[in-house]
Amino acid sequence: MTEVPVVTKVEELRNFVRAKRLAGKSIGLTPTMGALHAGHLSLVEILSQHVDCVIVTIFVNPTQFSVNEDFGRYPRQLKEDIEKLLKVKADLVFAPHVEEMYPSDFSTRVIMSGPAQVNLEDRFRPTHFEGVATVVAKLLNQSQADIAIFGEKDYQQLQVIRQLVRDLDISTRILAGPTLREADGLALSSRNIYLSEDERAKAPQLYLALRSAVSQILSGGDISEALKQSCEIIVNAGMKIDYLEARHAESLTPLRSMAEGPARLLVAAHLGKTRLIDNIPVS
Ligand code: PAJ
Repeated sequence: MTEVPVVTKVEELRNFVRAKRLAGKSIGLTPTMGALHAGHLSLVEILSQHVDCVIVTIFVNPTQFSVNEDFGRYPRQLKEDIEKLLKVKADLVFAPHVEEMYPSDFSTRVIMSGPAQVNLEDRFRPTHFEGVATVVAKLLNQSQADIAIFGEKDYQQLQVIRQLVRDLDISTRILAGPTLREADGLALSSRNIYLSEDERAKAPQLYLALRSAVSQILSGGDISEALKQSCEIIVNAGMKIDYLEARHAESLTPLRSMAEGPARLLVAAHLGKTRLIDNIPVS
């Protein structure tokens, strides 16, 4: 198979999109920060069932990292990423440089409330969603995609992006892809490579703890009691919990009983130097 073309300029991206549109093709966008794994590739595959042309963006977005986070050491492997994309139906890679996305006079930030301020990720990464919303608004405008896909793995991010396109009247439809997991339940993540062998063995406890809480809640157990027991599982696996909460699946507001709406459990915890997040529906 021939290589997937790679462009780095917004103008080249727009030219590609214009040509496809003239040929009557629909456009899909899969935004990523690269270091692609099977989870990312699954999003490309799902999207290619809905549109004629799939664009994958690879951009480690500096504005969504705070100063003490891993922007500098975030894995960058464009060559390997492009090879991986040969296995799925990707038509273009857009991999801009930082200066292309944020020229020196860049002056705009998209600041959101709603699902971006519910005391989950935002409590521990206060400027994170500002960076995500800003870059995603740019990518959607640059590509004018008919559909863009995001993973449920970053569940709060997904709800933030849904709110963003509603609020700013962006016409792109947002699709969600399920979380792809290793056989032992650990959610695939570009950050899993940071885990030592011992940490990797413990990491699946995060998902197992979520599963255990869901089965207790579904069999009529009290939500706070179920979460308390799951906290113990996670702490016993050597992790330090940032949050473990039951929230309304759409608004992400706190939820005390299943009668208050569809529920989602969301967790973030540190395992050694690595911060892991995960979530599952209570259903
Ligand atoms: P990144 O972490 O590279 O993730 C890109 C997309 O892949 C996101 O929509 C994420 O939810 C999804 N994803 C990650 N792990 C997954 C898994 N195990 N299964 C299914 N999908 C998974 O999320 C970002 O980049 C950035 O914040 C971005 C949206 C690109 C903005 O910079």
